[in-house]
Amino acid sequence: MPRGAASEVDAAAPDVAVRLEGVTRRFSQGKREITALDAVDLSVRRGTIFGVIGHSGAGKSTLIRTVNALEAPTAGAVLVDGVDMASLGAAALRAARKKTAMVFQQFQLLETVTVLDNVSLPLRLDGVSRSEARRRASESLDFVGLADRAGAYPNQLSGGQKQRVGIARAIVRQPAVLLCDEATSALDPTTTRQIIDLLRRVNREYGTTILVVTHEMDVIRDLCDEVAVMADGRIVEQGTVMDVFVNPATPVAKSFVGTVIPNELPPRVLRAVGGAPLWRLRFLDDEVTTPIVGDLISDFGLRVNILHADMTDIQDRTVGHMIIQVDGDPAQRAAAREHLAQRIVSLEEVTA
Ligand SMILES: Nc1ncnc2c1ncn2[C@@H]1O[C@H](COP(=O)(O)OP(=O)(O)O)[C@@H](O)[C@H]1O
Ligand SMILES: [Mg+2]
Repeated sequence: MPRGAASEVDAAAPDVAVRLEGVTRRFSQGKREITALDAVDLSVRRGTIFGVIGHSGAGKSTLIRTVNALEAPTAGAVLVDGVDMASLGAAALRAARKKTAMVFQQFQLLETVTVLDNVSLPLRLDGVSRSEARRRASESLDFVGLADRAGAYPNQLSGGQKQRVGIARAIVRQPAVLLCDEATSALDPTTTRQIIDLLRRVNREYGTTILVVTHEMDVIRDLCDEVAVMADGRIVEQGTVMDVFVNPATPVAKSFVGTVIPNELPPRVLRAVGGAPLWRLRFLDDEVTTPIVGDLISDFGLRVNILHADMTDIQDRTVGHMIIQVDGDPAQRAAAREHLAQRIVSLEEVTA
């Protein structure tokens, strides 16, 4: 899209809540120039939960900060609800910023005021009366399950409760897009699970589009519909969460998937097995219960050694993964490969 036309609502893509078009952000630190974002293209469809994963320093926070216009791109355009943030004057920008709200890793609550007043604050800043702000804040607190802690101060709450307050404050203005920057990274696994469930409820019940950035692949698995993998300011891979988990293409995506689904044999094991070929098998849904190892033994007369096997639920589906060593007659092995190719999602030979 030409830069000049972008201030108008993007009628061509009404189902897109957030779009980044060739977004580059550079910082200069003394003589050094850092490219935090390098020509990033991204589309987040309305009503979906989109995750960006990357290691520390990949550019995730910078990316999310361009969406609420806390960072201005050096080049490219950021459109929220089809409106180019850079095209807006101060008053219009203030209004446009209300379409988004942010949840932070370190909660960013005011310690000196109550939970209720923390949640009321965005409305008070909008000029909403104290009583009306408190009424709506109470509703938000009720939604996150903290109605009974309205009068408490943040330092009287656990980390998980603080993040619930952070979410209540973020949704109190009913934003179109909720931005989460490592929202669960300071929390233990059980609390992370609860916050993920809460974010899913926000998405489902309010239809809020959610953009999360994280370095935790299990958060992507449990929360997101789509994922973009970021490295050195670039998006190196993107797709549905299912696609990226089943068929990661780049080394960085493979390594993130490997943090949730171990998919490599330890080098010591690889060295020790030698000889007959190793096959990596991937299964989906009903395939995970197919007795394929039995088939290889009884129908093809092969010797099968299972070196690794697991299954994981991703969204509403089950992904299985197995590494086997297959010994026996080469012609039978070839026939077995043909047989498996019809029955499971993928088979590849593992090279040591
Ligand atoms: N305000 C800034 N000034 C200078 N460098 C910055 C600034 N913000 C971010 N960076 C640099 O940009 C890169 C990406 O940072 P960031 O977006 O915070 O990554 P992430 O959130 O993925 O860890 C890093 O090299 C970081 O040091
Ligand atoms: Mg960050």
